[in-house]
Amino acid sequence: MRKASRVVAAVLLQLKSRVKPGVSTAELDSFAEKSVREMGAVPAFLGYRGYPATLCVSLNEEIVHGIPSPKRIIREGDIVSLDMGAVYEGFYGDAAVTVAAGGISGAARRLMDVTARSLELALGAVKAGARLGDVSHAVEKYALENGMSVVREFTGHGIGRHLHEEPSIPNFGKPGTGPVLKAGMTLAIEPMLCLGRAEVVVKNDGWTAVSADGSLAAHYEHTVAVTEEGCEILSVVANG
Ligand code: MF3
Ligand code: CO
Repeated sequence: MRKASRVVAAVLLQLKSRVKPGVSTAELDSFAEKSVREMGAVPAFLGYRGYPATLCVSLNEEIVHGIPSPKRIIREGDIVSLDMGAVYEGFYGDAAVTVAAGGISGAARRLMDVTARSLELALGAVKAGARLGDVSHAVEKYALENGMSVVREFTGHGIGRHLHEEPSIPNFGKPGTGPVLKAGMTLAIEPMLCLGRAEVVVKNDGWTAVSADGSLAAHYEHTVAVTEEGCEILSVVANG
């Protein structure tokens, strides 16, 4: 899982510098697939429940599961969520990041910063003996304090020999409730926040989930292992 997750982190890092006005989302996907395979891993999303690509690229009001297309061109001011999974020797890694294309609005920047920070706070709540609700609550509390809304239709998840395992990890919940975390559990934690309301609509392609009110959304995700003291973030580049 360290290897699978590091491949994901390395590819996302390389993709970040390729997110620029004029680039199509399909170009990012081709680059991602090639890079994953060069590193000896296999794309995890490609073919998953019929998903047609390596990468999910979700722009602006798209929350998650944007399908890459040669017709979809990134423009100045877009915020671009990149989500990818990889499999190595049967084990999965999964991570996501939201990137700015050129100059973005102050509100967009704040949404990205609050979402990224909510993930850090969630990771800070992970340790053996903590409850899953502590992790969920950390995201919700920080999001609401900062005037953002939390997407409820999609959650984080256990991860390991499958992309999605138990438990499901909502980005809202009550502290002191839910399963007790144990050292060695591996989790994909992934806050999805909106600037406006968090109601979701899935587009006609059957995948792309957008905010119903058209407000901007951001998404960050890490794969982590629970330890006695806290957690080890697996989806970072080696030595990073
Ligand atoms: N990244 C999503 C998750 O974290 C999964 C994408 S679904 C797929 O759960 F179909 F695109 F693979
Ligand atoms: Co995930």
